[in-house]
Amino acid sequence: MAGPLPLRLLPDSASVTDGRASIGGVDLVDLAAEYGTPLFVYDEAQLRSRCRDAVAAFPGGVSYATKAFLCTAMARLAHEEGMLLDVATEGELFVALNAGVPADRCIFHGNNKSMAELRYALAEGVRHIMVDSFDEFDRLDMLHTELGLVADVLIRITPGVEAHTHEFISTGQDDSKFGFTVSTGLAHQAIERAHASPACRLVGIHAHIGSQVFSIDAFEQAVAVIADFANQYEVEELSVGGGLGVAYVASEEAPTFASWGASVQKACADAGVTALITAEPGRSIVAAAGVTLYEVGTIKTLEGIRTYVAVDGGMSDNPRPVLYGSGYETFLPRAADAPRELEVRVVGKHCESGDLLVREGWVPDDIVIGDILATPVTGAYGHTMASNYNKVTRPAVVFVSDGESRLVVRRESLDDLVRNDIVD
Ligand code: LLP
Repeated sequence: MAGPLPLRLLPDSASVTDGRASIGGVDLVDLAAEYGTPLFVYDEAQLRSRCRDAVAAFPGGVSYATKAFLCTAMARLAHEEGMLLDVATEGELFVALNAGVPADRCIFHGNNKSMAELRYALAEGVRHIMVDSFDEFDRLDMLHTELGLVADVLIRITPGVEAHTHEFISTGQDDSKFGFTVSTGLAHQAIERAHASPACRLVGIHAHIGSQVFSIDAFEQAVAVIADFANQYEVEELSVGGGLGVAYVASEEAPTFASWGASVQKACADAGVTALITAEPGRSIVAAAGVTLYEVGTIKTLEGIRTYVAVDGGMSDNPRPVLYGSGYETFLPRAADAPRELEVRVVGKHCESGDLLVREGWVPDDIVIGDILATPVTGAYGHTMASNYNKVTRPAVVFVSDGESRLVVRRESLDDLVRNDIVD
């Protein structure tokens, strides 16, 4: 038996009236009826306020890590709210530019950028290239010869520390595909290479120390190690990456942008860093602003074992439970404040047993076929990691605010599924 869903897991503008949940003044069951399911619903005001919080927390500049959730509307929103955009592929860069975000508001990441990607980024004039390997330096040199352009670069270092959990883990993290390892001297060599290359101007140093980090202490300690490295060089900017955690389930509590920003900047100041401190949050901007709506299609009760509730989506719209064992809450938007007496496993419609969305979910025991079932805190790494597995069409996305909804990504059609097929 679980109590009602804690309302703090719903977006800021959520309210419950006569049991029915609304976001941005729009009833969730009505939204499902209007746009169909599965459906990603975002509280637009919350997206905007999280961007503003991040901008306030990092006066040196802050990028939105678009891998967390990207579409034209989101790119515009983050840009309008003063964030830079962190893109990690030519595809993410294309979406940002196509949305009207100026190239000099985009920073370009990636551990294996192709010549074509680097050429595109340089020709468009991205703000910074985050260099990840010596092979990338070679490519930048070749492109300098070809285009005559000089890239403003940050060097991505692997500091040998990661802040994944409350434990400060200081061993083993050098074993990474990303960046230049500090302990082996590669990071130092990368700095020398950047200084020597006519293709680059060294702007700064970057490190991403982990994702879904809850402990401010762990951030502080990890940042101190990065700061020690950065202090050996004259750099304008020190980027501490992203990684601020979010609460997905009732038992979790996450730090705010303000406390993250303050502690990171204090750790840098304590270490004597005078460079601009920048950051790249993704998940913490978008995760809690989004909920996913599904329709319940089958309910199977195995007496003494468990109840399976199958919905019309699954690992194709949220692969995180399968990939990372991530936990989510569930609720019925028609009875959002009701006690949740029934333990269920929420599964999808894909042809494999592992296709689950919520391993241990709780719902009111009057759940019936046709109910709309929602999973909160699904705004990050759901839509962006969605697939067409089993040839399902990827869901639509709506933004809601002030009693209005607007479709920002239409649901894929069956025709979309064969759009690229070639018929002889
Ligand atoms: N900067 C860099 C260089 C990154 O690699 C990442 C995330 C971020 C910023 C943003 O991190 P965030 O603030 O979102 O934690 N698919 C996984 C998360 C992968 C994160 C990869 N890098 C998930 O669903 O949990």
